[in-house]
Amino acid sequence: MKPLKIGLAGLGTVGVGVIRLLRENADAITARAGRPIEVVAITARDRNRDRGVDLSAMRWHDNAVSVANDPDIDIAVELIGGSEGSARDMVEAALSRGTPVVTANKALVAIHGNALNSIAIENNTVLMFEAAVAGGVPAIKLVREGLAADHLQSVGGILNGTCNYILTEMRATGRDFSDVLSEAQQKGYAEAEPSTDVDGWDTAHKLAILAGLAFSPLSFDTMPVHGIRDVTAIDLKFADELRYRIKLLGLARRGKNGEVEAWVRPCMVPASAPIAVVNGVFNAVTTQGDFSGPMTISGRGAGEGPTASAVVADLIDLARGASLPLWGTDTSPAPKSCVSLDTIE
Ligand code: HSE
Repeated sequence: MKPLKIGLAGLGTVGVGVIRLLRENADAITARAGRPIEVVAITARDRNRDRGVDLSAMRWHDNAVSVANDPDIDIAVELIGGSEGSARDMVEAALSRGTPVVTANKALVAIHGNALNSIAIENNTVLMFEAAVAGGVPAIKLVREGLAADHLQSVGGILNGTCNYILTEMRATGRDFSDVLSEAQQKGYAEAEPSTDVDGWDTAHKLAILAGLAFSPLSFDTMPVHGIRDVTAIDLKFADELRYRIKLLGLARRGKNGEVEAWVRPCMVPASAPIAVVNGVFNAVTTQGDFSGPMTISGRGAGEGPTASAVVADLIDLARGASLPLWGTDTSPAPKSCVSLDTIE
C-alpha cells in the first residue's frame, strides 16, 4: 500500500506526540486510514535537540515553507503556532499548491480561517483543524458533522485547559493564582505567553472557530473577553458555599431577536450543571440545538496525547477522502457583543 506522506513543521510537545502516535498505533491507523501514514519531511527551530523519538529517516528542511513546497508530501501539518510568520506562510504555501493542511493552530484559524478556506477552495483542497479546539475532544467534528442537520441556539464551553486547571487547583487547595499558573506551565499546558490563556484570548480564538462553524464567521475583535486573573481563592470558596462553581466560559448564542452574541468571562455555574464537574485540564464543549437538545462532551483539552490524537484523526479523515467546508452558512444578523451577567444552566 502506498503510504500517505506527511510534511510536519514544529517538533514541540504536539509534534513529537504526532510522530509517537503514528508509530505506536501504526497498525490500527493503517487499517482505519486504508494506507500507512508516514512523516517523511520535518522542520523545527532546533535541529539538534534530543526529543526522545527517532527522526533519522525523515528529511530535514530549513523552514516551514520549504516543507510545504516539498513535492513528495501529500499533506502538510502545521504545529508551529502563532497567527503570523512561518505558521501562516506555511499554510498559505501548502494550500496554494493544492496540498491539504492539518493544523492545531487556533489563533491562525480564528483570525485567518476564512481567508485560508478561500485559498483551499480555489485550489481544490482542504484545511483541517480538529486539534485547534479542546485538544482531544472532537469539538469540530461534533459541530460540523454530528450536528450538521440541526439549528443551534448556542455553542461554547470550557475551552482552555490551563484556566480550568488553575481554577480547579485554587478551589481545591486555596492556593494563589500565580502559584498554580507556574505549575500549569511546568506541566506544558500553558501557552508560551501565558496571558494568552489567563486573559481569555485562547478561549476567544476557540470560541470564534466554533461559532464560525455553528453560525457564521465571527470576529473576536468585538467580543468582550475577560480572563481569570481577578478570580481569588475566596471567590471560589464563596461560590462553593452557594452551590456554584466558577468556570471560565466562552459562549456564542442566539439572542431574543436571533442575533448571535458571544463573550468570554468567568461565570457562576450551578454545581448540578454538567460542566460544573469538568475539572483540571479537561475542556467541555456544550451545544443547544433545536432538534438535538442540550449536549456536553468533555475530555483532555491540552497536552501531548490528546492534541496529537486530534491531529492524527484529521490525517485519517484526509486519507479516507474528507473534503469538508470550513465555515457555517447561517444567515442570522452579524454577531454582537453581550454583557448580561446571567448564570449558565
Ligand atoms: N494553552 C491551551 C490550553 C493549550 O491550556 O487549553 C491547548 O489549546
